[in-house]
Amino acid sequence: MDKKNIDWGNLGFAYIKTDKRYVSIWKDGAWDAGTLTEDATITMSECACVLQYAQTVFEGLKAYTTEDGRIVTFRPDLNAERLAQSAARLEMPVFPQERFIEAVTEVVRANAAFVPPYGSGATLYLRPFMFGINEVIGVKPATEYQFRIFCTPVGPYFKGGAKPITLRVSDLDRAAPHGTGNIKAGLNYAMSLHTLMEAHRAGYDENMFLDPATHTKVEETGGANFLFVTKDGKVVTPKSNSILPSITRRSLVYVAKEYLGLEVEEREVFFEEVKDFAECGLCGTAAVISPVGKIVDHGKEICFPSGMEKMGPTIQKLYDTLTGIQMGRIEAPAGWIHEIK
Ligand code: PLP
Ligand code: COI
Repeated sequence: MDKKNIDWGNLGFAYIKTDKRYVSIWKDGAWDAGTLTEDATITMSECACVLQYAQTVFEGLKAYTTEDGRIVTFRPDLNAERLAQSAARLEMPVFPQERFIEAVTEVVRANAAFVPPYGSGATLYLRPFMFGINEVIGVKPATEYQFRIFCTPVGPYFKGGAKPITLRVSDLDRAAPHGTGNIKAGLNYAMSLHTLMEAHRAGYDENMFLDPATHTKVEETGGANFLFVTKDGKVVTPKSNSILPSITRRSLVYVAKEYLGLEVEEREVFFEEVKDFAECGLCGTAAVISPVGKIVDHGKEICFPSGMEKMGPTIQKLYDTLTGIQMGRIEAPAGWIHEIK
């Protein structure tokens, strides 16, 4: 199969239309058989539930070309599970896990020419999503839904790739206590847009959100969880029920313990402690592991000893091991790699 003529090494994190996408429709209480389509557009009523009341949830995962030329995805079962949790929280029907994995497989297979080659630094990002499409004007859940998956080849989420980024502490929250911070709902991202643009206008790459109840504990950024490394080499990651349970973070906790023999603490992390850490990184499907060099809290700077030029040594080891597993250079734990045949 010939690959598309794309400058793989210079891709950013942006949408490129690919050949095929998957769509399945929920109507009269059941999902239809689902199909691939070339039509990248959606036509809906002005009164569709998703437009009026933001009834939409989504996922993000990637397909990789391995060193030996296979195409694989990473733990798609966990995306299926998390989408089900997100859907249930917004009173949407669940798309069955086996069908989710089959749909991922079909989309990647149909767009194999868009899967970036091994070693290019790019990957194929898959965006499964689901939304209420019928007309709803009184506040209530839709009765008709679409589940879709499109894909787009992407490069690094943050410009500069592995260069450390700078965050500021946000005064605004992305989630409420007992709200929807722990699911992947579009509304959480809408909540983050204003403070994200303010951060950009002030010269920062992203926001660090603190817990919405007390503003004393570290939560996450708009699109990734935090990892810290203590001066004695322990990995620390915030635990909170208002952050997204990142699949990358859960995988890295396992990698840190089982592959690298590191001690890991998943616990509440007070902002007060952050200045004492040796390294900081953001982890997620899009972010992979992006090193953080500096965090600014209303003019007060926290500069990590790892600096602004490169990843700290422990974050680098985690990055190398995780990407090694994803690209087939390092043997994966059973069930982590789903090969597209
Ligand atoms: N936190 C938020 C708010 C996200 O949007 C994402 C991206 O999916 C993550 C964390 C990382 O999650 P994952 O590692 O499952 O991609
Ligand atoms: C992902 O990492 O898949 C996300 O959904 C994060 C988003 C900010 C692009």
